[in-house]
Amino acid sequence: MHITRPHGWEIPEHKVTPEAAVLGRRGLVAGAAALAAGHALAASPPAAAPGAVGPVNARYKPGRALTAEKVAETYNNYYEIDDSKDIWQGAQQIRTAPWSIQVSGMVSKPRTIALEDLFKQVQFEERIYRHRCVEAWAMTVPWTGFPLRQLVKICDPLAAAKYMVFQTAEQPKNMPGLDSPIYPWPYIEGLAIDEVANDLAFVSTGLFGKPLPKQNGGPIRLTVPWKYGFKSAKALVRISFTDKQPVNFWQAIAPTEYGFWANVNPAVPHPRWSQAQERLIGTSEIVPTVIYNGYGDFVASLYANRSKDKLFM
Ligand code: MTE
Repeated sequence: MHITRPHGWEIPEHKVTPEAAVLGRRGLVAGAAALAAGHALAASPPAAAPGAVGPVNARYKPGRALTAEKVAETYNNYYEIDDSKDIWQGAQQIRTAPWSIQVSGMVSKPRTIALEDLFKQVQFEERIYRHRCVEAWAMTVPWTGFPLRQLVKICDPLAAAKYMVFQTAEQPKNMPGLDSPIYPWPYIEGLAIDEVANDLAFVSTGLFGKPLPKQNGGPIRLTVPWKYGFKSAKALVRISFTDKQPVNFWQAIAPTEYGFWANVNPAVPHPRWSQAQERLIGTSEIVPTVIYNGYGDFVASLYANRSKDKLFM
């Protein structure tokens, strides 16, 4: 007899009581000491994302209806533009061509890769992933791109490298949010070297079968679906490898609220709100949140020997 084990993401149909309004993160920086870090990295010029879509990867079933395309592309977080959700128009001034990514740190050979050269070396596919923001909203969308480990292979890190660090574009003329001195620009994120090798870790260059919209991180972003959305850095311009755990953007701003690992867990509340449920944007549905955003079958083993770390903030 064929028995199918329900996956973590197969959430029961019943609806649950909506949680109290979730606070935005704007509040926390209001009183925070100004983190005036002067970052002088020049804005990298931009590019066209590929037309290539590739086959849908059937391994990762979404288990939910797709979010409406218009909703996914008009309700965004992109603090380089501003701290509202309504940044999609403002994001259109970001220059995305030509675009290249600098590779540095613990690698066999530091270099700069033009996006069009990168695209010749990877195999594109489509993945329908659930995306869960730390603010307790969620969406389900089809990303086009390639597994992060293909990019890691191209970067050729040294055996002693323990972390991969991702840095987002800074285009002061096109990103008004960079004027805000309370944020420690540039936007930095990091993953451990075994996380980047996991098949779920993805580099997105398209959304809904078209090049990745600027507001969603075009031309190229990280997509890490088992972690809170802030780990999925947009508009990547620099990648480096290191043996020291990096401090990410939100961790630098509020270390008591955001950590390095940031794996989704309904049982570990944010200090200012519950993570037990999530709101599906574009609908009135509130559903229970699932540990590792429902991807535990694929990623839980990464954390078996890290139980002393703060894995869920
Ligand atoms: N990347 C950059 N560079 N700047 C940001 O403000 N916000 C993060 C993440 N990546 C952010 C970022 C957060 S909090 C979330 S939830 C997702 O992007 C939102 O992605 P989306 O707008 O495509 O839904």
